[in-house]
Amino acid sequence: NANSMWGGRFAAGPDAIMEAINASIGFDRRLAAQDIEGSRAHAAMLASTGIIEPSDAEAIREGLLTVLSEIETGTFQFSTALEDIHMNVEARLKDLIGEPAGRLHTGRSRNDQVALDFRMWVRDQCDAAIVGIEALQKALLVQAEAGADWVMPGFTHLQTAQPVTWGHHMMAYVEMLGRDASRFADARARMNESPLGAAALAGTSFPIDREMTATALGFDRPAANSLDAVADRDFALEFLSASTICAMHLSRFAEELVIWSSAQFRFVTMSDRFSTGSSIMPQKKNPDAAELVRAKIGRIMGATVGLFTVMKGLPLTYSKDMQEDKEQVFDAADSLMLALAAMEGMVGDITANVDPLRAAAASGFSTATDLADWLVREAGLPFRDAHHVTGRLVALAEAEGCDLPDLTLDQMKSAHGAITSSVFDVLGVDNSVASRTSYGGTAPDQVRAQIKRWKERLA
Ligand code: ARG
Repeated sequence: NANSMWGGRFAAGPDAIMEAINASIGFDRRLAAQDIEGSRAHAAMLASTGIIEPSDAEAIREGLLTVLSEIETGTFQFSTALEDIHMNVEARLKDLIGEPAGRLHTGRSRNDQVALDFRMWVRDQCDAAIVGIEALQKALLVQAEAGADWVMPGFTHLQTAQPVTWGHHMMAYVEMLGRDASRFADARARMNESPLGAAALAGTSFPIDREMTATALGFDRPAANSLDAVADRDFALEFLSASTICAMHLSRFAEELVIWSSAQFRFVTMSDRFSTGSSIMPQKKNPDAAELVRAKIGRIMGATVGLFTVMKGLPLTYSKDMQEDKEQVFDAADSLMLALAAMEGMVGDITANVDPLRAAAASGFSTATDLADWLVREAGLPFRDAHHVTGRLVALAEAEGCDLPDLTLDQMKSAHGAITSSVFDVLGVDNSVASRTSYGGTAPDQVRAQIKRWKERLA
């Protein structure tokens, strides 16, 4: 049987394989709410411009609400033969209200319809991502406030570099996530133009009111070029790109949690709620949630690369290739939301092990820079010379098997005669972090200022 929506020129129905490769209803049913909202706005506009009768528009708008409730309650019968969500909804509307249903598609095409539905879905996901990011930021702020002066090692190359504070480290992620949220907000603002009314590609000869539908559907304005409106998916690519960057940040933090929770580091204890055991090794407590957050970027970036690859080289305007946009975005969005929620849960539950953090901060000659700075400040050495003198003291301590504060004053003097006992004041980790008072530095007062600024911003 030929298709009831577009089968006028067809004598035969599709091959089963054709139906299988062509149908998108298996996944685009997730656009049902957007599809119905868009159709209701379109029907209202068709009536207000006199293109269809108000009574028909009313029947359409009411019938669509019935369809929506059938979908929401799970009684709706989806049909693969009807290809996609757009035709499934319209066919059911026809069952429900009869002839007026056939007037809904006036001045519209599935090309602008799907561009509209998907844009509205992605727009909602931008909002949801921002909510998820801010929830994680708030969890990080709680950790940062608790540990604004807990000392821990800061690393470069994963080698001990200089002491920092727990709060400072948490706030680093708050900053990264803040940029992530702003990327979603930027993308949202840019995508907020309505494609509805572009019709198949060229616009329509019906006297439609695109401003009216744009406003009704929460858009800032109608998209200005009908070809562009149906042909581009850059809004989805921006969402995916922002998601990839955010997932990359989450992955780095997850990796740190995996390292920090190891027996070799013992910086943090992860809660039972976000850990799993081993079926063979009874002692094990594995950071599976952190590992999975670390991994989610794989599929999120995969979706990004996937959709770029689908879109590149497509001539204007719509091609069926573009139906391959949705599954990638759905999966990436689900993955990102889950990763954000898991991270928020983990961060809320983390116990920072203050003593191991402090012990690690004090080891590995972490205050060597403080010693070099002391030589500059108190003995007037050029920094390069101070660096060299300090390096010799590090080598000496390493040979002695001790840390810098354990060297005697005589040993210190052997490297440079100007060193006095006041040098020992700067070798402690608390003094070290307290001295880094430059803007954005790790001094607890600086960290508290960062926390205060973000608390106000997120309030
Ligand atoms: N299911 C299609 C998609 O997801 C809807 C648009 C179909 N348009 C068309 N001209 N065949 O892209």
